[in-house]
Amino acid sequence: MKFLRPLIIGLGALAIGLTADAAGGAKKSKAPEGGWPFAKVPAGQLDQQSMQRGFQVYKEVCASCHGMKLLSYRNLGEPGGPFYDDAYPNANDNPLVKAIAAEYEVMDATPDEFGDPVFRPAIPADTFREPYPNEQAARAANGGALPPDLSVITKARGKGAEGDGASYVYSLMKGYPSFDEVKFREEPNGEFVNYLEFDDGEKVGELIQPIGVYYNPYFAGDTAPQWSGDPRHKPYGGFLAMPAQLPDGRVEYMDGTEATTAQMAYDVAMFLHWAGDPKQVQRKSLALPVMIYLVLLSILLWFSYKRIWRNVAH
Ligand code: HEC
Repeated sequence: MKFLRPLIIGLGALAIGLTADAAGGAKKSKAPEGGWPFAKVPAGQLDQQSMQRGFQVYKEVCASCHGMKLLSYRNLGEPGGPFYDDAYPNANDNPLVKAIAAEYEVMDATPDEFGDPVFRPAIPADTFREPYPNEQAARAANGGALPPDLSVITKARGKGAEGDGASYVYSLMKGYPSFDEVKFREEPNGEFVNYLEFDDGEKVGELIQPIGVYYNPYFAGDTAPQWSGDPRHKPYGGFLAMPAQLPDGRVEYMDGTEATTAQMAYDVAMFLHWAGDPKQVQRKSLALPVMIYLVLLSILLWFSYKRIWRNVAH
């Protein structure tokens, strides 16, 4: 029965692991109802309309704090991108992409004859403009926290499965408590305190929201120090320096879609999923031709093998 011991230890560890996960940590992020199109067969389907709306959300809401320095405006118009158009196979010619780029002013690589910087409208080949000149400025504007670059955020946060990262962004953006769930009261010493009340039978208590951070059940962290209830049933998640960004109607969609919190969270997550791997559609669309080529090559090799060895006993 020697093998039983490691088995029991393993199962015990698993049980502890599972309950530890249930007791604390961040809430597991959820894909939107119906799932992501790109997580279905055939692989790599993106919703172009949704990506266009997602870009609008990024541009009008997120870009004031978050850069996307791995992206060039040109990427937006490449095959699989939000503004790809068959009429302009070369994204540099795409008038929409040119117009989007031209809205930004960037510093030219070559200074003028006095060595002073020259500013000009961006062209499709320029990378997305950064919101802050450096990390210090970014932190100073955000109470000490650094808004991460969003170029590959869906790759950085997912657990590996297709769509995980997008589900995280979607859940996080939509997961903040609503405006009236965050209450406030005056303490005897005259200070105002923000707090949330929980009472679902198991989690019963009050969660104090410290100044300058915001509660979100999907953000990895620890709520124990702010929790008045039973520590075994503390609320999921933690506090982050980013306030809720997407109240209903935060943007006005150009295509007339109603801009609910869930819709904007979906669209921006779709856009960021694409941005994390802008060549995915091109790459994935190569899979079938490559398989056909390999099958034909195998048949050909089989017959040449037969032919080359036909007079040799082996
Ligand atoms: C006012 C500035 C501001 C705006 C606008 C903003 N964010 Fe943030 N964001 C932050 C800061 C600051 C952090 C870092 C929070 C922390 O680490 O406590 C952050 C963090 C994040 C994170 C990372 C969370 C993690 O797991 O570490 C994501 C994802 C994110 N923001 C997405 C967005 C999206 C999408 C938008 C637009 C809809 C947006 N943000 C708009 C300031 C902002």
